[in-house]
Amino acid sequence: MTGIPWLLHGLLVLSCLISDASAIYTPLREYAGNTFFDNWAYYGNVDNTTWGNVTFVDKDAATQKKLTYVNDAGNAVVKVDDLTTIAPAQLVNRDTIRLTSLHSYGVGTLILIDAVHIPYGCSVWPSFWTYGIEQEWPLAGEIDIIEGINGMENNQVALHALGGCLKAEVPGQQTGVTIEGDCSKPQGCLVAETKPNSFGMGFAKAGGGVFALQMEESGIYSWFWSRPDIPANVQNGQFSSQSIDTSRWGIPSAGYPSSRCNITQFFPPQNLVLLTTLCGVWAGNPSIYQQTCKTPTNSCVADNIIGPGDKFATAYWEIRYIRTYTNNNATSQSPSDSTSKGPSVITKTVTVSATVQDTAATSNGAHAQRHKPLGMLWILYCLVFFWR
Ligand SMILES: *[C@@H]1O[C@H](CO)[C@@H](O)[C@H](O)[C@H]1NC(C)=O
Ligand SMILES: *[C@@H]1O[C@H](CO)[C@@H](O)[C@H](O)[C@H]1NC(C)=O
Ligand SMILES: *[C@@H]1O[C@H](CO)[C@@H](O)[C@H](O)[C@H]1NC(C)=O
Ligand SMILES: *[C@@H]1O[C@H](CO)[C@@H](O)[C@H](O)[C@H]1NC(C)=O
Repeated sequence: MTGIPWLLHGLLVLSCLISDASAIYTPLREYAGNTFFDNWAYYGNVDNTTWGNVTFVDKDAATQKKLTYVNDAGNAVVKVDDLTTIAPAQLVNRDTIRLTSLHSYGVGTLILIDAVHIPYGCSVWPSFWTYGIEQEWPLAGEIDIIEGINGMENNQVALHALGGCLKAEVPGQQTGVTIEGDCSKPQGCLVAETKPNSFGMGFAKAGGGVFALQMEESGIYSWFWSRPDIPANVQNGQFSSQSIDTSRWGIPSAGYPSSRCNITQFFPPQNLVLLTTLCGVWAGNPSIYQQTCKTPTNSCVADNIIGPGDKFATAYWEIRYIRTYTNNNATSQSPSDSTSKGPSVITKTVTVSATVQDTAATSNGAHAQRHKPLGMLWILYCLVFFWR
């Protein structure tokens, strides 16, 4: 074969590889600006899941202490108390925030978060993640979209599920590095981001960036772009008028094809969680802490949480928006919040009164549709290619 046929062959092979992650999504809900904090529950409790030495304050305390607010740039700020000096005591807790979305998002959803700053520093453990509330956490699945600790410089993505959900490895499916392939293990099926500036000081210095999560019956996929690399179809346009075609995004950072994990079974509708905890079972684990932070007594609590708050000057989220989208198969559903469609679920772990489930279609819909005209031919091509 010469020139053109080879090019065509290359393009087709590439389309085989990225096809699972392609779909067109329409806007569903935006958390941004002055209304950012409207659709979240504040935890108002200690950290009883990861055992950080914190109190996740309620909305009144958060507002009064200015731990959540919208800044002059119109961005949402979600921070750790960096003003209070805490005296040594047997039990110390620094105030911080855990937010849980009032709405849940199922298969057929795309979630974007554009952040200018993610909390970092010794003892600091931020995460933006999802969990299913149909059963007690984490029985209905958990997806970690942004997570890291202490001095880490790269983001980590993970799925947590009951036994029977494994990470399939397909060549060319992701740019990140798989660290664990069994989603029922304590760290979940874990993928480390390899692109620079995905976490910590580097993320902030580059002006932040965008993380995306796509949940489809065919798989779960996540992308990260540092500010200069954000794709045009994410960078431009108003939320309400902008459909997003994920096929232009290239290979995801983390890919979990459904071939070894039934996504609809293990990941029922998920609520979003944005939090920062301090120390706790990961950041505060003595051996991990000592590897990632050098502080006077090697104690996460004594060297950080106790004493003045100024160590937490970088422990804040600054978020331009969180946007949710649904695939075309679900556009017949009204995106309006006022009418509750689907079951209303009372969450067991947070004081969310009712959760509206966005019943994005449970189906393959959009990406199968995209290839309809040449669908069979294309599938045959991919099969032949991978069989050789
Ligand atoms: C920090 O939190 C852990 C886990 O809850 C607890 O065992 C420990 O006593 C706490 N330390 C202090 C000084 O409060
Ligand atoms: C995946 O799980 C769903 C829900 O439990 C079930 O309806 C479906 O048949 C399963 N798909 C496969 C391929 O096993
Ligand atoms: C955490 O505390 C809340 C409020 O007391 C409770 O509803 C929830 O069940 C607890 N979660 C865990 C995992 O213990
Ligand atoms: C939605 O999904 C169903 C079930 O898979 C499929 O038959 C239908 O063609 C899809 N509709 C659209 C508009 O994509």
